[in-house]
Amino acid sequence: MIPSPQLSIVVPTFNERGNVAELVARLRRILVDSNWEVIFVDDNSPDGTSAQVREIAALDMRVRCLRRVGRRGLAGACIEGMMASSAPIVAVMDADLQHDEAVLPAMLKAIGEGADVVVGTRYSEGGGTGTGLSAYRKGGSRLATTLARTMLGVTISDPMSGFFMLRREIVEAAAPRLSEQGFKILLDILASTVNAPKIVELPYTFRERHSGQSKLDSLVVIEYLGLLLSKAVGDWLSVRFLLFVMVGASGLLVHLLTLRLGLRASGLGFGAAQGVATFAAMTWNFFANNQLTYRDRRLSGMAAVRGLLVFYAVCSIGAFANVGVAGWLYQGHSSWWLAGTAGALMGAVFNYAANSALTWRRA
Ligand code: GDD
Ligand code: MN
Repeated sequence: MIPSPQLSIVVPTFNERGNVAELVARLRRILVDSNWEVIFVDDNSPDGTSAQVREIAALDMRVRCLRRVGRRGLAGACIEGMMASSAPIVAVMDADLQHDEAVLPAMLKAIGEGADVVVGTRYSEGGGTGTGLSAYRKGGSRLATTLARTMLGVTISDPMSGFFMLRREIVEAAAPRLSEQGFKILLDILASTVNAPKIVELPYTFRERHSGQSKLDSLVVIEYLGLLLSKAVGDWLSVRFLLFVMVGASGLLVHLLTLRLGLRASGLGFGAAQGVATFAAMTWNFFANNQLTYRDRRLSGMAAVRGLLVFYAVCSIGAFANVGVAGWLYQGHSSWWLAGTAGALMGAVFNYAANSALTWRRA
């Protein structure tokens, strides 16, 4: 029998064809004394990353490839990669060589000495962001870190780190509570762990990307707020639902602005202006949800046209549910604001459930 490796390194990839061979070469060099494997979790990259990984894997069974079709998302990829291994110790690192693989042996040693989680950090003594982050990203990263500390009580210096190692029991225990959305996988694991794990931080310098380009855009900031809120309410509401509600709130603004424009500028009657505003808000909500809430199932081309029509239909039924519940409560002598809020909630929950099942259903 051949025992499973002691360490499994999970590397999420999206369009990283130019980086995988170099990363594997470096892992081989730095981990000569360990029994390891590397699992690339690739979301069906158009640049053929998975084919490149398989080519390397054909000659080295320590290299594995998990190709996910029809799905997108950094956090989800990391979770599945960790779940696909049986190694007692798992690590996560980026494919683009921004993380310093030379820290891996020290991470292993720390676990051997009793740590549950070892985090590669850019912010403690000896670490740094070097030239790897723009000034804008640096500021954002600092702000996100401060928010995580105050809202979630996470005390480590770099909870945004995508470079860490942990005992597999930690992630097995946290798995049912982890969000697939977003990219803050370490923060999510730490916020979802019941017993405080023993954490060790090891400094390193964040390097420049080797080849290709970053996949994190400004929308991840909003997604991150969703994660913070979801954790702050004790996982009672999913990140996706919170994002849906945030988009809904922005749609209300669009509605009111359009209504005002319709009444003032083009002199429409109230009924017509309200109708136009309703369509403007629904259209806005569709595209905003398509970019943000359901970005992992994003519709494009004809599928987006079909999705928009289904979205209109679903939201119209949602409006009936809203008005129906509100009217029923109001007649039962509830106060106007309680009836109104209950109606709006009813509409939001209906719209969310129906749109998840119909408009952005899983293939
Ligand atoms: N499977 C999969 N699916 N992998 C993805 C996806 C996805 O949707 N999006 C990104 N990745 C992979 C990339 O291919 C890369 O290997 C890694 O995740 C990090 O993505 P980058 O696009 O290089 O992110 P970054 O360098 O801007 O951000 C890094 O720094 C952040 C802190 O500033 C990451 O390490 C983040 O995790 C980290 O929080
Ligand atoms: Mn990167």
